[in-house]
This record gives sequence, structure tokens and C-alpha cells, in this order.
Amino acid sequence: MNYRHAFHAGNFADLVKHGTLLRLLEALLSDPAPLTIVDTHAGAGGYDLDGELARRTGEAAQGVFRLMAASTAPAPFDGLKSAVRRGNPEGGVRFYPGSPSLIATLLRQGDVYTACELRDDDSALLARTLAAQAGARAVQADGFATAERAAQQAGRLFVLIDPPFERADDYERIAATLDAVLATNRRACVAIWLPLKDLETFDGFLRRVEPAAPSLLVAEARLKPLADPMKMNGCAMVIANAPAGLAVDLEAICGWVVETLGETGGKASVWTTDA
Ligand SMILES: C[S@@+](CC[C@H](N)C(=O)[O-])C[C@H]1O[C@@H](n2cnc3c(N)ncnc32)[C@H](O)[C@@H]1O
Repeated sequence: MNYRHAFHAGNFADLVKHGTLLRLLEALLSDPAPLTIVDTHAGAGGYDLDGELARRTGEAAQGVFRLMAASTAPAPFDGLKSAVRRGNPEGGVRFYPGSPSLIATLLRQGDVYTACELRDDDSALLARTLAAQAGARAVQADGFATAERAAQQAGRLFVLIDPPFERADDYERIAATLDAVLATNRRACVAIWLPLKDLETFDGFLRRVEPAAPSLLVAEARLKPLADPMKMNGCAMVIANAPAGLAVDLEAICGWVVETLGETGGKASVWTTDA
């Protein structure tokens, strides 16, 4: 496992993922019934954009730095912008929240959040990030298996799946986990982040998961045409049992990211697989 999210924190893909995550959570937490949340691939929890790893790639320059400087960002980004401001009380944009920080601060009494991370270093940072957060726990365990186990308990469930895609079988493991979660908890909301490199890999994934999840909400942010399969040309969120109204937010999020950070031939689209 070579991947470390610190190299990529706050890039365009994080804006799509975390903007979506916060809108999703707002909808799910508007229901007073307790929510169980599993973050299958949690990373370190939060990131120092002044740190060596983030500076080596500089990806936040075409991501959160642009978002925080923009006067035109649409309202669905308000939650993410507020979270970044809260994490930087002295101003500027040095610290960027990962999915664990974003989720943990929204938990209500009775909600339970499990953040999974396998790496020793990031898992130690994650434990520190979540140490003082009631209802949240960091586990050094396989996220796919943890989500499957959580689905076996009754109750409302939200699963965020965000693997590093450094293993050839990551797509199949996501699909198998989605199958298993929906087979035991058919109303679970499952949000999956995917890179967009070439179209056939993405289409093949959607064909694979369709039998278990016939009505998926798909949001694509293609920064450029999918011409070079060796590059991350964009990213997508694929969501099972998406809350009503989320599509409009995703159109705004992906639309702004493509318009602001994309190149000629970029395209944002939001659609459902049964349309
Ligand atoms: C893309 S990063 C996660 C970023 C995080 N979700 C966020 O938005 O802030 C993926 C992380 O998954 C971890 N990882 C890889 N395979 C895993 C597995 N099977 N279970 C749990 N964590 C895993 C990697 O070490 C890496 O830190």
C-alpha cells in the first residue's frame, strides 16, 4: 500500500467527494433516527497543506485554494467552505479536513461512526483526529469487511467507499461490498468515489453493480475528455439510495468544478442508471 492521501488532499476530486458528502449527510441527518456510518477508507482524518507531502504535488492549488478564493461557488459548497474556515481559525487555507473530520463533527447523540484505515501511519493520525469525538471510532481494519458486518445490524446505515485504486481488484471489491450491504440492508445509502480514466472501466463497473442496485445516482466531473487512460481525467460519485433532491446539488458541485478547474472538452453530468 503506497497510496497516501496527503499527496492529494484538497484537490478537485476531494471537492467533488467532500461537497457531495456534506450534502448527503445534511439530508440523512435531517431524519431524527440514529445513523450508523462506515467510512471504509478513511485516511489520516485531516491534512496539513503546508506539509511536505501536500507541497510535493501542489494539487490543492487546483482545488480547495480555488474554491476558497472564489466568489462564484454555488451554495452546495457552503458546508465544505465553512468546515475549511473552522479548521483554519487564524485565516488562510493551511488545514484541509478529510472525510473523518467532516463526518465526526456532524454526529448527533446516538449516531455511530466507524472510520477504517489499514496503514500504520495514517491509522495513528486518524485515531488522534477522532480521539475527542463522541460516537466516532478509528479502527485499523479492512473497510470492505467492516461495512459488510455493519450492514447485518438493523437500522439506518450510510457507507462511504473511497479506495485508493492501487489494486487491480478494487472495482470488484467495491461491487462485492455493495452487493453484500444491499442484500442485508436494502435501504442503506452507499456513496462510492471513483476515478474517471477511460469510459469502458467506468461503464463496466456500472454494469457490474446494476443488478444489485438498479437505480444509482451518478455524478461525473470530467475535467477533460477521457482520452488518456493513464491519467485521472475526472472523477465520479455513484450513490445507491441517494436522498431526494441530491441530484440538483451534485449538478451544481460538478458543474462548478468542471467550469472552474476543467479544460476544453470537460463535461459535468448527473444522471440515474434507470433513467
Ligand atoms: C483515498 S484515501 C481516503 C481518503 C478519505 N476517504 C478522505 O476523503 O479524506 C484511501 C485510504 O484507504 C486506505 N486503505 C486502502 N485499502 C484499505 C482497506 N481495504 N481498508 C481500509 N483502508 C484501506 C489507504 O491506506 C488510504 O489511506
